[in-house]
Amino acid sequence: MSDSEIIGSVLAADQYSKAASVQEAGVVLLNTCAIRENAEARIWGRLGELQAEKRRRRASQQPPLLVGVLGCMAERLKARLLDSARLADLVVGPDAYRDLPRILAAVQAGEAQGSAAMNVQLSLEETYADIMPVRQDASRTSAFVSIMRGCNNMCAFCIVPFTRGRERSRPLDSILREVEALSEQGVKEITLLGQNVNSYADFSHLQQQQQHTSSSQTYQATKQRHADPQQQQQQQAALSYYAPGFASVYKPQRQGATGFGQLLDKVALVNPEMRVRFTSPHPKDFTDDVLGVISEHPNVCKYLHMPAQSGSSSMLERMKRGYSREAYDGLVERARQVLPNVALSTDIIAGFCGETDEEHQATADLLRRTRYDNAFIFAYSQRGKTYAARHLADDVPAEVKSQRLADLFAAYRQGQAELNQLEVGRIHLALLDGRPRRDGQHSLQGRSCSMKRVIILEQPVPSSLRALQQHCEGQRLDPQQQQQQLYAGPVSSLGTGDYVAVLVQQVVGSSTLLSVPLARTSIQEFAAVLGSTIVSADKAPAWLVQQGAAAAAAAAAAAAAAAAAASGGASDGESQQVLVAQG
Ligand code: 5AD
Ligand code: SF4
Repeated sequence: MSDSEIIGSVLAADQYSKAASVQEAGVVLLNTCAIRENAEARIWGRLGELQAEKRRRRASQQPPLLVGVLGCMAERLKARLLDSARLADLVVGPDAYRDLPRILAAVQAGEAQGSAAMNVQLSLEETYADIMPVRQDASRTSAFVSIMRGCNNMCAFCIVPFTRGRERSRPLDSILREVEALSEQGVKEITLLGQNVNSYADFSHLQQQQQHTSSSQTYQATKQRHADPQQQQQQQAALSYYAPGFASVYKPQRQGATGFGQLLDKVALVNPEMRVRFTSPHPKDFTDDVLGVISEHPNVCKYLHMPAQSGSSSMLERMKRGYSREAYDGLVERARQVLPNVALSTDIIAGFCGETDEEHQATADLLRRTRYDNAFIFAYSQRGKTYAARHLADDVPAEVKSQRLADLFAAYRQGQAELNQLEVGRIHLALLDGRPRRDGQHSLQGRSCSMKRVIILEQPVPSSLRALQQHCEGQRLDPQQQQQQLYAGPVSSLGTGDYVAVLVQQVVGSSTLLSVPLARTSIQEFAAVLGSTIVSADKAPAWLVQQGAAAAAAAAAAAAAAAAAASGGASDGESQQVLVAQG
């Protein structure tokens, strides 16, 4: 469940419902992020627009519009939002959503202004574990599940530990209950959410055991623990839990905790036909056991977000990231070994304090060499309270930052283009989620396990990959015959929520895979027949490649016939255009 869904659930329980537009709403709540300056700038703009709507209502003597600022920006700016300009009527931080109905009622009754209309208290415990989701869009195939909140890492540039508070994990049982409920509702893909997801550590089972112990016993036990050398050794072992070459400024007690690997394993087992993704992780917590769990479960997607922030060890040290370039490269190598064809994405900051040209070049080198499928590159913006704001100079001139941003973007595109060349001829398992905006009448779209957008022509396909395999292998035709011999067994039409095996024909834009649908399938069937959910072109079985060629030829012929019918006679060139126009 995302923050918006938590807010939706809290308000729905208090008889609020969603308005269709701002004009029809009595209350507008802006859920905000303060992580970078431009995210905040957008909210200031939106608050300005809402002022105009407030004035319009006052002028026409309509009931007033109440505006609330929620989330990180609320925590960061607190009273400034409620000051004389009165841009907001209420301000509620990320750990205080349960208090929303009370604050709203007080503001509506005219009883609360200024600090009385504000709750920005951060909590050590709040995980909203007991709040069941009200899904924002029940027709969608995917949903978010919040598993932890806050972050203790204190990266030098980052405001999150100050706006979202200390790291705390939601109890495993409550996560599993929510995942089971979503599975029963027919959701096909969940994303586990948190500021630092793979640092997940749940102690609730230990706390339950402890509740049976009296407080004096607990005190004795705690005293002994501090004195016990064996215990200290165990703590050391817990600290060496990090991926090799990674460290953290904070030393969490992990002894006995349910960690992210165990959580992921349990979530994956809830429904092997429901895909599992997670975001955002920290590279330090990609331990070998987590990589192993991802590899073991075909329904855990082979897409890892690995925020590097920089490719230079000296810069990483200034950023207080807890790893060197070499350690990061080592992790990428291990991940690619354990998870062949895994897609990688990253976050990068350009122009952080004191960045030299050499450090910048090291980051460009990282982007070119690692070859990311996706990269989010930001110009550094100083945020209040952070280590950098207090101790380092934001001394890279704005024009140098934007030049470096452009350089890094070019380096990323170069690596991505090289990866895209490997896509043609690959076989992916796509989950269909709707129709593309262009040519939506004839096409369907979905996502591969590696998060790439997949577009296929809508056409009947074999009802199962296994049936297609048996048909093709049973025929024992030579390749040329088989190319002409289309599958003649049971077929299905495809729709949203279906899994389909696809063969990539072309990459358009930066990463959209124009593909041929091969057969309807399931996650388990696809993995059983093909051994993984992303199959390299050189490992694709001949029977499937031939089926792909035959299906592509049939689609091209159908498109040519349709074009000819529409224009009263078409050339080959025109039928080609019909296919290309899918993307
Ligand atoms: N300036 C620019 N980018 C930042 N990020 C976090 N803080 C800042 C900042 N002060 C980026 C990091 C992080 C992503 C979510 O936002 O790359 O991973
Ligand atoms: Fe911010 Fe991520 Fe670092 Fe936490 S780990 S401080 S959220 S950049």
